[in-house]
Amino acid sequence: MNTAAVLTGLGTYVPPRVVTNEELSRTMDTSDEWIRTRTGIAQRHWADTGTATSDLAVEAGARALKSAGSADVDLVVLATTTPDHPCPATAPQVASRLGLRTVAAYDVAAVCSGFVYALACAAGAIAAGVAERVLVIGAETYSTILNPDDRTTSVIFGDGAGAVVLRAGDPSEPGALLAHDLGSDGSLKDLIMVPGGGSRQPVTGAAEPGPRPADSYFGMQGKPVFRHAVTRMAESSQAVLDRAGWAAQSVDWFVGHQANVRILHAVADQLGMDKERTVVNLDRVGNTSAASIPLALADAVSDGLLAPGHRVLLSAFGGGVTWGSTALVWPDITTDRDISPKTPRSS
Ligand code: UT7
Repeated sequence: MNTAAVLTGLGTYVPPRVVTNEELSRTMDTSDEWIRTRTGIAQRHWADTGTATSDLAVEAGARALKSAGSADVDLVVLATTTPDHPCPATAPQVASRLGLRTVAAYDVAAVCSGFVYALACAAGAIAAGVAERVLVIGAETYSTILNPDDRTTSVIFGDGAGAVVLRAGDPSEPGALLAHDLGSDGSLKDLIMVPGGGSRQPVTGAAEPGPRPADSYFGMQGKPVFRHAVTRMAESSQAVLDRAGWAAQSVDWFVGHQANVRILHAVADQLGMDKERTVVNLDRVGNTSAASIPLALADAVSDGLLAPGHRVLLSAFGGGVTWGSTALVWPDITTDRDISPKTPRSS
């Protein structure tokens, strides 16, 4: 029988600072009502100035290792859109700070689909015998790339990190990742982009303090992204359901990338699933990109929704554009609040 990647630990971290819709509406032309009705978001967490993605990743990674009951891993895969530096990757630093010595470590750049891509990379490494145990982290500090003058993005994104530990095991075990589906369409790359700072448009190196160049900020064309997200997440979800041999109605929880509650419900609709089976925590954390699926899993566990034996469908869509899905049966793992505190709700 093939070796499967089995989920055996889960940990999350969000920075303490809560930014409510009401707070944002004091500095930009927006309102709590608009943000809640168009997205479902009520608040997000933003890191303090000076906090980097690795800082959140280390916290979530340590909690995931504790949840797994062992810090013995031989690979770290970190999904992020907001690495500490353009070079080198952030994962080796995170591995080192977690005391994982000289393990293999690399970053995955698939924007909001990053966590699902990283799961597939880790599962591939386990199946190929490259690794026995892998720490997979999704971590983001979007607050560092949001344009404070752009209300179409600033109200949506939040900071946070979530991590899981995967180990080599048997496909029949609870926690085994049963099927993967990944895709991309680079012809739509302009829909979600930070234009400056890469080889196409290198940074100009302005050393003086002052306003940042507009091309260093994150940009998104929300409407077409919404449309493609629904289509691709539904198609990709169906592909993994077919591979897992599951009917959509037999799925206990659809844990989709937390971009917009209207997207999640539209995908559930297209799959013929009950909307009540959709896990939603974006009201509390906003869109945390590569961190959103593990944060949603942890909140679903603390909310008493997700339990051992449940069938879980993960699906994401993001810049690139990219998309991906995974299916698993939820394992009996320790994710108590000491390890993975529930993200607090604002009143
Ligand atoms: O995570 C990666 C993938 N990302 C996504 O999946 C995001 C997908 N897109 C979306 O979720 C939605 O398109 C948004 C939430 C980004 C925007 O919602 P929308 O319903 O598509 O709104 P819209 O962009 O069509 O804007 C509607 C109106 C516009 O005004 P007019 O032209 O109708 O007068 C906007 O200028 O809402 C205005 N608007 C705002 N108003 C108050 C846009 N942003 C805001 C805002 N506050 N923050």
